[in-house]
Amino acid sequence: MKIKVFTLFPDMLRPTLNASILGRAIAAGLLEVELVNIRDYTQDKHRRTDDYPFGGGAGMVMSAQPIVDAFAARCPDPFCGRRIYLSPRGRRLDQGIVEELAREEELALLCGHYEGVDQRALDAVIDEELSIGDYVLTGGELGALVLIDAVSRLIPGVLGSEDSSEDESFTTGLLEYPQYTRPADFRGMTVPEPLLGGNHADITAWRREQSLSATLDRRPELLDTAPLTDGDRAMLARLKRARTVSAQLGQCGVDCACRELRLADLWPKQWFSAFVPEARRKEAKKQCFPGRRHVGWLWQAFSMGFAQAESGDAAWEMWRAELGSDCCLYLPDDGLLFDIRDASALTRKVLEPMKHYILADPALSRTYVRPNKPDFGPYFAAARS
Ligand SMILES: C[S@@+](CC[C@H](N)C(=O)[O-])C[C@H]1O[C@@H](n2cnc3c(N)ncnc32)[C@H](O)[C@@H]1O
Repeated sequence: MKIKVFTLFPDMLRPTLNASILGRAIAAGLLEVELVNIRDYTQDKHRRTDDYPFGGGAGMVMSAQPIVDAFAARCPDPFCGRRIYLSPRGRRLDQGIVEELAREEELALLCGHYEGVDQRALDAVIDEELSIGDYVLTGGELGALVLIDAVSRLIPGVLGSEDSSEDESFTTGLLEYPQYTRPADFRGMTVPEPLLGGNHADITAWRREQSLSATLDRRPELLDTAPLTDGDRAMLARLKRARTVSAQLGQCGVDCACRELRLADLWPKQWFSAFVPEARRKEAKKQCFPGRRHVGWLWQAFSMGFAQAESGDAAWEMWRAELGSDCCLYLPDDGLLFDIRDASALTRKVLEPMKHYILADPALSRTYVRPNKPDFGPYFAAARS
């Protein structure tokens, strides 16, 4: 791809064009950037390129003549591409526009300065105006660099591997998941477990949940147009419900954090394996109606005595190590798991409106289950002997 940049300040662009990925792309001939100094085309004997605005007002305006003549000399018709003026009045640049531009053979970018450019130059040589955001820069050069950088990433061969741009924010219609590199433990801050396991399906599922979650929190409007699968939509419904429940608990003074959906899905199994001794699991599963909701079979595991007897310190320690947290509230109907930071705020009054829940509180060595059968009573507590 060829890009011509029309500017009064070519030196502002050179260092960036010579560095890093852009520098390598240009050196490898994948991208050709030509800097055209508009001043070289002025017919003014003092080499001026700007003048006072008609009608008065602050600042200077870039004159039409040097710009129109520079374009005529360096971008003669027919021009096989798009001629763009970087301007705060333009269409706001986004990944969709970047993808369109990357398909062009050639781009010509006009950088304004001072108060802007004589409208007649824009009418004569520009196809469209693009803005890089709702703020005003001193000149179009930084905008041109932003555009060149974003477009060049999509040129085959510019990035190390062609995959590198496929998963990125906006390319998928969503924001990107968090990234980590070595070491796995940086000053006590660890890397999420699925990324270390090497299981591709787990990694993909974890990344998708993180992408959906970040997009929901930061740029929810992107979800209206993002290509979503049925699985994504189901996950989003749970993530939205998690935010509603967190807010409701927060209003009742309960400090809580929603755990990843992946962990919520594992929770009943982890609880079961921590509290039901291995020798009795098979029988427990058979007798505790495994086809029913988790709250049902956890309830059965308690009430039929599979879990109670062995719920000693070792079971709680194992459970804590598995989950890495203290008090947990599990909502089986929504498939949500919350870390409760201050369990004392979780009073009966707060819990009462919840149809089904399991509250596991290692501080008290208790699990409370509110089952789906009202005559089972509101609470069940399995106390350590
Ligand atoms: C100080 S600005 C002129 C602003 C102009 N008087 C206005 O209010 O729209 C000078 C130049 O910076 C560039 N520029 C400023 N903000 C920009 C933005 N958000 N996106 C792209 N280019 C911008 C344009 O090329 C513009 O001609």
